[in-house]
Amino acid sequence: MAQENFRNTTDQQTVIIGGGVCGLAIGWELAEAGLAVTIVERGHCGREATHAAAGMLAAAAECEPGEEQLLQLTRWAQQLWPSYLDRLEASSGLRPDYRDEGTLVVALNRDEVERLRFRHEFQTSLGLPLTWLEGHELREREPHLRQSAAAAIYSAEDHQVDNRQLAESLKQAYLNAGGRLREDCEVTSLDCSEPTRKRISLGSGEVLEAKTLVLAAGAWTRGLPGLPDAAKPPVRPLKGQSLALQMVPQESLLAHVLWTEQIYCVPRRDGRLIIGATVEERGFDDSITAGGIYALIEGARRALPGIEDLPLIESWSGFRPGCRDDAPVLGETPVPGLHLATGHHRNGILLAPVTGHCIAQEILTGALPEAARPFTLARFKPLSARRKKSHLQYQ
Ligand code: GLY
Repeated sequence: MAQENFRNTTDQQTVIIGGGVCGLAIGWELAEAGLAVTIVERGHCGREATHAAAGMLAAAAECEPGEEQLLQLTRWAQQLWPSYLDRLEASSGLRPDYRDEGTLVVALNRDEVERLRFRHEFQTSLGLPLTWLEGHELREREPHLRQSAAAAIYSAEDHQVDNRQLAESLKQAYLNAGGRLREDCEVTSLDCSEPTRKRISLGSGEVLEAKTLVLAAGAWTRGLPGLPDAAKPPVRPLKGQSLALQMVPQESLLAHVLWTEQIYCVPRRDGRLIIGATVEERGFDDSITAGGIYALIEGARRALPGIEDLPLIESWSGFRPGCRDDAPVLGETPVPGLHLATGHHRNGILLAPVTGHCIAQEILTGALPEAARPFTLARFKPLSARRKKSHLQYQ
């Protein structure tokens, strides 16, 4: 079949709802593979959770008990990042800023040291490459830290990327690969009643038809009108407020990404110091609150007293797509041809390359890569339903 005919055949088309980094990453892979792809975004690409993120690629520092399986996915993503940036630059002409100084998780007093030791023991027991730093070693690395800072875990492999630049370069790479983009385009209803033809009604009155539909609409995925119950992920919005201070780039207060028990600080090369983030169960209330901003500034000042003189240049909020078990939901649902890529919680930027690869592979080959298989929607089925299914399979 000629490539052009294939591209114009609407019933071969893939539609992706959501133009954040995950939707764009999937779209880019599929468009590069020659599929006809349309991304439908109700606002502008990369303006929701992607915009609100801090770009930390923190597989090790953020790993908590119970997340051992997720660690396989996040560590894989970390390994992919350097070559992913090369590919992205070659395809888009844009290279998002990437910093590899690593991450410090600091204890600011003796009580915090005890908790940090526990964290260090747990994370090193998983084989993560982490280094314990005493207070003087820590302050040698970061001289602007409060003098009483007592200890830290140093994670050399937890880097950071500029998430907003990432969205721009992914969008350009997607468009350069021939992907189609509909921005400012609300989905008013989905009709998934036919196995090989999904209908996506838009606010403009148009109806798109697709053989394959991918839902990558972050915290909004579950609420898409017409989404069949069998395909609804247990995902909800988890609000985060953040702010940015402006440092003089040549006089940066910080080189590493810094975590304390209250906040994280992410220094950008242009002198912005991002301080985040609250974690709030407030539905889709996007207000910036005095309490939220106070907590962030107070938490950052405990670690870096020098921030007091810096101008506050931006504050924002966003909605992490939080899943019931804090892990993403990836892959085809019980509705044939309907795929999910949501629930990335705190790891959307880190997991974008893996999400793009895995969902594209599933669509192109029919098989979800091994590392993503524990993260399908099937894991939320009641145990009784899972038992029944395996019983039937062996009959
Ligand atoms: N990963 C950063 C955050 O969720 O705030």
